[in-house]
Amino acid sequence: MNALVKHSADATTVEEGLAIQEEQAKFDSKAATEVAMQNTLLTPRFYTTDFDELDAIDVSSVREDWDKLIDQMEADPNKGHFKKNEDWDHVDWENMEPGLKKEFIDFLISSCTAEFSGCVLYKEMKRRGNNKDITQLFQLMARDEARHAGFINDALREAGVAVNLGFLTQKKKYTYFRPKFIYYATYLSEKIGYARYITIFRHLEQHPEHRFHPIFKWFHEWCNDEFSHGEAFALLMKTDPKLTSGKNVLWIKFFLTAVYATMYVRDHQRPKFHEALGVEPDWYANEVFTKTSELTKQIFPITLDIDNPRWQAGLVRLQKANADLARAKAEKGVGAWLRSVGAQTRAAAAFVGLYTIPAKKHTVPASTRLEPAY
Ligand SMILES: [Fe+2]
Ligand SMILES: [Fe+2]
Repeated sequence: MNALVKHSADATTVEEGLAIQEEQAKFDSKAATEVAMQNTLLTPRFYTTDFDELDAIDVSSVREDWDKLIDQMEADPNKGHFKKNEDWDHVDWENMEPGLKKEFIDFLISSCTAEFSGCVLYKEMKRRGNNKDITQLFQLMARDEARHAGFINDALREAGVAVNLGFLTQKKKYTYFRPKFIYYATYLSEKIGYARYITIFRHLEQHPEHRFHPIFKWFHEWCNDEFSHGEAFALLMKTDPKLTSGKNVLWIKFFLTAVYATMYVRDHQRPKFHEALGVEPDWYANEVFTKTSELTKQIFPITLDIDNPRWQAGLVRLQKANADLARAKAEKGVGAWLRSVGAQTRAAAAFVGLYTIPAKKHTVPASTRLEPAY
């Protein structure tokens, strides 16, 4: 790219970041965009919501913590960070083991889609809102996600693929979620995102020989952005105690189970990727669940009992059912159809089994605010 053209990492607003990426999109590949377009239970989706309801939130009850968080985000410590520099080692895509290459590209496309999904939702909230607190927060979060997505696309471009983000914005299906579901799902995805990135980053600090791609060096600052986004959603939920009590606790449990289980199944589809990182997927899942559970105690009155023997057994059943389903779907004929129905039934039963494990209850602290500590 022309050195005079600004990089998305230096963009101070989401609009600027996206305009830069639009310019690069001329070179983006159809294949990667098609993967990002997929909507299955396991692929990242795009969301839309009732923006007026979100705009009506009054943050005065958490004003002190809110202003501190916004000031931190306005200070923009990561401006200019998400671009290649001298730490970006050469990547030998040509000679990368084909199985690993496939899984790693799949990981990058899926991560890029997830980052961009946040960007699109936050940007839309900023555009539609009139509440200054809300529009300011969503502008800042959209700015960060545009940088993250842009940086992953930089990495993909070196492999000869990249996701056309403009195309995705227009053509990908949007799933409607009520605001409260957006809070639970987005809060969790920000916090689990932090836990995932920091766990890999710390592991590779100890085992640099497994750092097979330079992007992992950027995970530290990256996860701090996700951490702040999660903090913002925790504060938003704090403004309305109903969101985290009564019947809503069942919804919280549902989202915790769904987010954890999805991560488990998806990660187990990438054995070579985890092997190259020197990370055992079961160990990694447990690490990430433990960290995420610890963090979500800031606002959720329950955590999942991941030490219950039914938990690991249920995850394994779900993962097996999913693998069988994928195999059956790739085949034709009545036998394959029957196998796919059977696998779906087993997957649903495994999920119900996970959901019905009694949760651990605890008291939520008066102040939600946390700092990244892992
Ligand atoms: Fe992000
Ligand atoms: Fe985020």
